[in-house]
Amino acid sequence: MAQYVVFNCVCLVVCSGRHTFTTTYTEINGQMIAGIPEISSVTVLDGQQIDYYDSEIKKLIPRQDWMKEFASGDKWKEYIEIREQVQQNNTINITILMEQFNQLHGVHTYQRMYGCEWDDQTNDSYGFDQHGYDGEDFISLDVNQLRYITPVPQGLITANTWNNDRAQLEFLQQYYRHDCVNWLKYFLTLKKADLEIRVPEVSLLQEDSSSPVMCHATGFYPSGVTITWLRNGQDDYEDVDLGETVPNEDGTFQKIFTLYVNPEEWKKNQFVCVVEHKGKTIRIILSEDEIKSNKRRWKMNQYFCVAEHKGKTIQ
Ligand SMILES: *[C@@H]1O[C@H](CO)[C@@H](O)[C@H](O)[C@H]1NC(C)=O
Ligand SMILES: *[C@@H]1O[C@H](CO)[C@@H](O)[C@H](O)[C@H]1NC(C)=O
Ligand SMILES: *[C@@H]1O[C@H](CO)[C@@H](O)[C@H](O)[C@H]1NC(C)=O
Repeated sequence: MAQYVVFNCVCLVVCSGRHTFTTTYTEINGQMIAGIPEISSVTVLDGQQIDYYDSEIKKLIPRQDWMKEFASGDKWKEYIEIREQVQQNNTINITILMEQFNQLHGVHTYQRMYGCEWDDQTNDSYGFDQHGYDGEDFISLDVNQLRYITPVPQGLITANTWNNDRAQLEFLQQYYRHDCVNWLKYFLTLKKADLEIRVPEVSLLQEDSSSPVMCHATGFYPSGVTITWLRNGQDDYEDVDLGETVPNEDGTFQKIFTLYVNPEEWKKNQFVCVVEHKGKTIRIILSEDEIKSNKRRWKMNQYFCVAEHKGKTIQ
């Protein structure tokens, strides 16, 4: 279990191995529920949300800085067009489904999860397109056999209709086998290029004036970083504690190096936190002015890996 958790955390960030690119489309019938849009969709790349759409705003919103940049370029239109095509091809109509399930009224949901996976080691890829109704599997596309299958009798009419539309099936197969994987790879390149320029932001943090001083480096990529505390130019102070390098949600990393020192000691000596990353050095001299002692601030900046399994939480 513990190993699985570690793997899960690292996979959000390390761009190696299996990659996933998934859009989840949700539709809720009737506009009677205040505040919930009738239609919404979210696209996620390797666990990170990259765009968002809903029927209230009627616009695709980029969710990462590198996606915003992409959204101002020429390819954005192309991306929106293919998305709309795929999303409009073979969509379930809730009203018709309600009839098939003998439901006269009530709130019902239709969810569709589609996209592709690609393994950058083996170059294997596959596409998927799964439709659910009220939280149950309703119908799904077998991209290789190129036909829709359904686990419920109510899905047969839809499956037959869709299976008879050869042109749409071929369009979707082309999308899941090729276009989808190409977009996935393209977005990975954009994400990587954005990460490559990230350098550490370094700050000194302290909960209150008698607590240890933390030298906190965050937002850097790749993960290789060296942090040292120098006392009067020497790396000989022993009351220190170097934390692990941990991933941030956006693919960058952070690390904390804690210095246990009392205020009299650090006022008599010069303590400097030195952070080295990709050949660049950042130094901060320990002084009252440099310390951010806002408790809340650094707590907010801490990221935990939380995994939940059978009601148990592991951090
Ligand atoms: C769904 O089907 C109903 C009943 O046939 C029809 O009135 C409605 O316009 C359809 N909705 C969409 C979005 O196609
Ligand atoms: C990976 O697979 C794709 C699609 O099948 C193919 O076009 C491409 O040439 C392959 N790349 C490598 C490096 O084998
Ligand atoms: C759906 O698929 C067909 C292929 O039959 C394609 O020509 C069409 O443009 C697609 N999009 C929509 C919105 O129907």
